[in-house]
Amino acid sequence: MVHELKKLNYEYNALEPMMSAETLEYHHGKHHATYVAKLNGFVVGTDYESKNLIEIIKNSDGVIFNNAAQVYNHDFFWDTLSPEETQPSDDLTQMINDQFGSMEGFKKSFFENAVSLFGSGWVWLCLDENNTLSIVKTANAETPITNGLKPLMTCDVWEHAYYIDYRNARPTYLENYWKLINWKFVSDNVKS
Ligand code: FE2
Repeated sequence: MVHELKKLNYEYNALEPMMSAETLEYHHGKHHATYVAKLNGFVVGTDYESKNLIEIIKNSDGVIFNNAAQVYNHDFFWDTLSPEETQPSDDLTQMINDQFGSMEGFKKSFFENAVSLFGSGWVWLCLDENNTLSIVKTANAETPITNGLKPLMTCDVWEHAYYIDYRNARPTYLENYWKLINWKFVSDNVKS
């Protein structure tokens, strides 16, 4: 099957001033698009050619895994963001309070994980098979779905996600990312 670049639910300038149109042009229009194009090229003539994205991620390694996982991770990242102000559901708020003490406690822990991630990668809020929330860091293209975890939200902490807007200031990027979180998407993922 041919993999396609995810269409965003918002315009490139819709996340300004937290995330600029130029960042979206590069991040979605070039970086993400390149992962899709490379994946489509690498699977030709392999067993993965007929497989969907999740099947590829769960069974591949090397360049095919890296590009497939980056496609999935970016799809998830764009859905984690919204130009509209949203609120977490009562259920999610309760789960966050139970696990992290408060929304502030969760934010603090999420930021600590994001700031301390060395190099390129992703920070996730996940749900495990016992319905317990955890913050998970993954390096490079790694993704929590290969460990049986259900992702609820993610933050891209590759430098390409923030260098245009914030240069090397990852903490400033994180503060602005937090203002864009689509809590409806995150809450719906708990039930999915
Ligand atoms: Fe990215």
